[in-house]
Amino acid sequence: MSQWHILGAGAIGSLIAHRMMQSNCACTLLHHHQSSSSGLLLDGKTTARLPIQSLRALAPASIDRLLLTTKAGQLVDALKLALPYLSDDAVIACTANGLGFEQAFSEVLPGRSLHRATSTAAAFRDHDAVVHIVSDGITRIGLPESSASPPTWFSDSLAILDGWRWESNMQGAIGEKFSINCVINPLTAQLECRNGELLQSGAAGPELTALCEESEPLLNALGLWSRQSDLLSAATNVCQSTAQNQSSMLQDRLAGRPTEIDFLNGELLRRAENFEFELPLNQALVSALR
Ligand code: PAF
Repeated sequence: MSQWHILGAGAIGSLIAHRMMQSNCACTLLHHHQSSSSGLLLDGKTTARLPIQSLRALAPASIDRLLLTTKAGQLVDALKLALPYLSDDAVIACTANGLGFEQAFSEVLPGRSLHRATSTAAAFRDHDAVVHIVSDGITRIGLPESSASPPTWFSDSLAILDGWRWESNMQGAIGEKFSINCVINPLTAQLECRNGELLQSGAAGPELTALCEESEPLLNALGLWSRQSDLLSAATNVCQSTAQNQSSMLQDRLAGRPTEIDFLNGELLRRAENFEFELPLNQALVSALR
């Protein structure tokens, strides 16, 4: 079975490491600090203590499977730190939201592929750094540039985990997640509200409606939103099914961490440069949350 190293001991990294350890899927949770430690995780009513190893304690070239669970803004720095520990043909995957870090990845590791994972899992870290699992959701992983069938390293490890699926249309999955993140996350962060509070009497509220109406034509033109249903209905469904959740961007904002706005609406604005769409709501959100 493939041994995974998970770099980034935040909420999502801890959740994935915990599930792998419970499923006897070989895995080591890593952080880049000097010494090894442990983290606490609350899974329903059960508390687990997760061992977190220091990246620096690893032997050179000893990582064959690397899952980067940092946010988009820290992904390339984390990759650079991991470089001496990667074997020549290591598989590399990441869970970060957003777009716009692909170029920087290729500059660090020319010619290598970055597998992407998009997840509907929800977890958060509280003020005492305890990670709470809200739901496992569905995690889709694949290669954006190819529709290859599941490789052995997926079938013999990640496939064992509940809710993990190999995605042969990863480009589509990323575009879909990006579009949803662009309309829910910045609004919840700016309004400091839970996902469900973007709704009014169960239907989309005015802010969500306006942002979807402004963003969807551009997302369509960029080939990022290509689903049959309109973006507003899809975003409304996500807000209904995750009503009690704080979006990842709201969590970052409340914790004083940098948000992913540059890799979501900021990236959308960059890609809009060749088009003539008016995007005042996106511009205002990027200025407010950058
Ligand atoms: O980033 C997030 O928080 C989630 O992906 C979602 C469901 C879009 C908002 O909570």
